[in-house]
Amino acid sequence: MKKILIVVIGVLTLIFLHGLIVGEHAATAAKAKPAAPAKQASCKSCHADFASVLPKTHPEVKGTTLSACTSCHAPDFSGKAKKNAFATKMHMAHLGEKANLDCTACHTWVPGKSFGLIGVKGSWGAPTKADMKLIKEEFASAAKSGFMDNLHAKGGVDCLGCHGKGMPKPDDTVENQRCLECHGPMEKLAQRSAPKDFPDRNPHKSHLGEIACTVCHKGHQASTVYCLDCHRNFKMSIPGAAAK
Ligand code: HEC
Ligand code: HEC
Ligand code: HEC
Ligand code: HEC
Ligand code: HEC
Ligand code: HEC
Ligand code: HEC
Repeated sequence: MKKILIVVIGVLTLIFLHGLIVGEHAATAAKAKPAAPAKQASCKSCHADFASVLPKTHPEVKGTTLSACTSCHAPDFSGKAKKNAFATKMHMAHLGEKANLDCTACHTWVPGKSFGLIGVKGSWGAPTKADMKLIKEEFASAAKSGFMDNLHAKGGVDCLGCHGKGMPKPDDTVENQRCLECHGPMEKLAQRSAPKDFPDRNPHKSHLGEIACTVCHKGHQASTVYCLDCHRNFKMSIPGAAAK
């Protein structure tokens, strides 16, 4: 029994060391030839078949890599204000606690030059290493924060749904018009949010006039009701205010 255990441990150690060496080798190769296509993560290592993770109504999928998906789900580089259930579901499932894959399991990335999807032409932008650090932080937040990023990811709206074309940059913000493409028009929004008891305590129609949505609705931090800075006695709450 002990002998078998030692052999098993030995084999495991070898596999582990081999992994390290291959990994290092791959890293060196990547440095020498940055444009070389990265190796696709085999989805099969975790999913014996896709049927068990796809919606029941979903067409049958053949293949074992991301290319099995992109034949029908061509990546969207347009940055239009719309939902992208494919992207958000892939991100939410694989960038959380259950599975935390590296971006390059599915994406190609040449720092400062391009960021695309393995096996497909096209790029979302040219994030540098510093940009990517911030982007990864916001992905981690979107996975579970309970803030706006997370509420939108759950609703099928990915980063570009708010940020528009290209990868989000450190100084990015989102203009009111962009939010209103999905939540507008403003008059309707204001009608919906008029409190029944005190109709003039309306966050979307007040003596402040037109102000940036992001004064209250923060992308990646707790949202706050600005009115309460002055009106301490008003009772108002806002979605995305607190971590869940
Ligand atoms: C390291 C393991 C791992 C790898 C590799 C992996 N997945 Fe997953 N995948 C998961 C886990 C864990 C879940 C979450 C299952 C759950 O929520 O119960 C998941 C969920 C999914 C879902 C369901 C998403 C949803 O919320 O509806 C799909 C579709 C999927 N994976 C496709 C893929 C594809 C395509 C690949 C290859 C590009 C891949 N996975 C690679 C672990 C992995
Ligand atoms: C044969 C074409 C085809 C292939 C291949 C394909 N899909 Fe789909 N997919 C569709 C269609 C059509 C829909 C919309 C209908 C639906 O939601 O069932 C869809 C919808 C989805 C959705 C959104 C479901 C929702 O909740 O709205 C996800 C996620 C998804 N596909 C993931 C994948 C993944 C992951 C792969 C690769 C493993 C893949 N698809 C391969 C055709 C395809
Ligand atoms: C399991 C595979 C997978 C992993 C891991 C993954 N992505 Fe993606 N990503 C996709 C797919 C699939 C799309 C969808 C392309 C489309 O339909 O537009 C996508 C799209 C994107 C987009 C453009 C669409 C959008 O609005 O978000 C960005 C930006 C992006 N990914 C960034 C990242 C970053 C950064 C990481 C690592 C923190 C990452 N992804 C990890 C599969 C993955
Ligand atoms: C609901 C809209 C929305 C979605 C979805 C969204 N963001 Fe943002 N993001 C914002 C807003 C608004 C700001 C500006 C900061 C603020 O006012 O909160 C911002 C700022 C940023 C910034 C710049 C500075 C900072 O705060 O980090 C980065 C980088 C960023 N977002 C990345 C992402 C990524 C990556 C995703 C997808 C996982 C994403 N965003 C999804 C709204 C959004
Ligand atoms: C691509 C369309 C789209 C864009 C752009 C967008 N949203 Fe959303 N938003 C959604 C979807 C979808 C949901 C998920 C819940 C739902 O269906 O209403 C959501 C949820 C919300 C919620 C939470 C609603 C609730 O009751 O939980 C708020 C608040 C919100 N959005 C505000 C904003 C603001 C502010 C912006 C701009 C910074 C913005 N959204 C940009 C589509 C969008
Ligand atoms: C002064 C703070 C403030 C500003 C500025 C603000 N909101 Fe809101 N928003 C709130 C509050 C508070 C709620 C919750 C209202 C409720 O529960 O009825 C809310 C709720 C929402 C909701 C979810 C409820 C619904 O009816 O869909 C959306 C979407 C939304 N805001 C979008 C926007 C957009 C888009 C802008 C910019 C044009 C904006 N908000 C500007 C405070 C604000
Ligand atoms: C910078 C401080 C400030 C902010 C922020 C602010 N207000 Fe006011 N508000 C005032 C002042 C000052 C008055 C006039 C004082 C008075 O007559 O009581 C006032 C008066 C009002 C009144 C009428 C008097 C009352 O108390 O009922 C309403 C309603 C009101 N504000 C709603 C809002 C709403 C809704 C918001 C957020 C969208 C908001 N205010 C944000 C300072 C502010």
